[in-house]
Amino acid sequence: MSSLDDSAEDRHPQTSFETIIEPFRVHSVEPIAFTTRSERADALERSRYNLFGLKAREVTIDLLTDSGTGAMSTRQWAGMMMGDESYAGSRSYERFKETVSDITGFSEILPTHQGRAAERLLFSEAVTDGDIVPSNTHFDTTRANIEHEGAEALDLVIEEGKDSQSEHPFKGNIDVDALQRVISDAGPDRIPMVMVTVTNNSGGGQPVSMANLRAVRGVCDRYQIPFFLDACRFAENAWFIKQREPDYADSTPLEIAREMFSLADGATMSAKKDGMSNIGGFLAMNDPDLAERCRNLLILTEGFPTYGGMAGYDLEAVAVGLWEALDEHYLRYRTRSTAYLANLSESAGVPTVRPPGGHAVYLDASQMLPHIPSSQYPAQALACALYLEGGVRGVEIGSVMFGKPQPDGTEIPAAMELVRLAVPRRTYTQSHIDYVGEVIAAVANRAEDIRGLRIVEQPRWLRHFTAALEPV
Ligand code: F0G
Repeated sequence: MSSLDDSAEDRHPQTSFETIIEPFRVHSVEPIAFTTRSERADALERSRYNLFGLKAREVTIDLLTDSGTGAMSTRQWAGMMMGDESYAGSRSYERFKETVSDITGFSEILPTHQGRAAERLLFSEAVTDGDIVPSNTHFDTTRANIEHEGAEALDLVIEEGKDSQSEHPFKGNIDVDALQRVISDAGPDRIPMVMVTVTNNSGGGQPVSMANLRAVRGVCDRYQIPFFLDACRFAENAWFIKQREPDYADSTPLEIAREMFSLADGATMSAKKDGMSNIGGFLAMNDPDLAERCRNLLILTEGFPTYGGMAGYDLEAVAVGLWEALDEHYLRYRTRSTAYLANLSESAGVPTVRPPGGHAVYLDASQMLPHIPSSQYPAQALACALYLEGGVRGVEIGSVMFGKPQPDGTEIPAAMELVRLAVPRRTYTQSHIDYVGEVIAAVANRAEDIRGLRIVEQPRWLRHFTAALEPV
């Protein structure tokens, strides 16, 4: 399959009309669940105020994550019927590999079952005890995999990226001066690689500019340090570059993506995001020696190097999905529908992290619920209230996730108290999003009645997944 036709711009009906329509029609439908308020109240109590404990059939609009939750296209399903399930050397792998090398330009392509598997392979082979891996902001699994090797995962996003209200166009940029300082202070030997996450998920889904990627390349060249992209949302990042970086207004998302990858030495990828698939990922790079070592580990834990933990039909879905993620009609609708949800929220008086990111809207719970202190988890309280009000499930990104318990029983709170509403790809329509806007407005109207929560049980690691809470 070749890349999608990017010259379709002139034929786009939206050049003369305001409404951004979904660039697809519905081919197969899945009913969504409707529940009563008392059923939702019971479900909240049963799941102990932790939305990860809900059954999916108790959720009406599920904005927990955009990862693996999107709808696939007719072309992807057709591709899946062609899946070649041969253990070694399948046709599906050839198609997968051709697509990934065509888009990324990397010569070594290792399929993995999802993004974190690519991270584990890479860091197991390239990172050791005492190393530092700088990034704009590491995603949780990236950080955990680096720390698992005894190394430090260091976040160096620019100052604007930490200010929820800054309208900087590239709030995902890494602070290049700080990067330079870290390398010269620690010494390049302790920096096995620099990673940049595009778009910067943990920093609000904010994009990274081509100029910033180029500057990182320059620093890495100076010190002979490899540069890797966490490329999960590379297509959304390419679209923001096209919209916001003047030199790229006339380039296609594919051309921009290729240039982004050309500045790096390798990438980890979760195909559950801009691979438009329900599962899958890859590790890609140019270094054949490192690739060989990672491939040996791949065989040990993921599978043979021509399937890497995926079925043949998954390889097909990703091979098609990567091209579809680069379609301009799709990307325009994708970023506009996320911005539309942010506007609905702001019109309801609920501030969001500005400007809206590509895959999610982040509601600012500390501004909405000033009567709930961080110690009573305002963002968790807001996430529960959105569920109770209208069956909308988001995820807390605040002190339940990032608070640091202290020996005296107190906690250092997270920098921000946010609820992330992540939008699955090609799944919900504008009326679903309008509904979510109404639910936010209804919760905002009774904000003073919302109570804080306390944690009654928690595991040692990644407590947000399983902690039990109760209303204060
Ligand atoms: N990197 C980034 C930037 C991510 O957002 C994710 C996953 C991963 C790596 C790991 O990929 O899940 O395929 O192993 N993010 C999901 C989320 C889970 O909800 O943001 P994975």
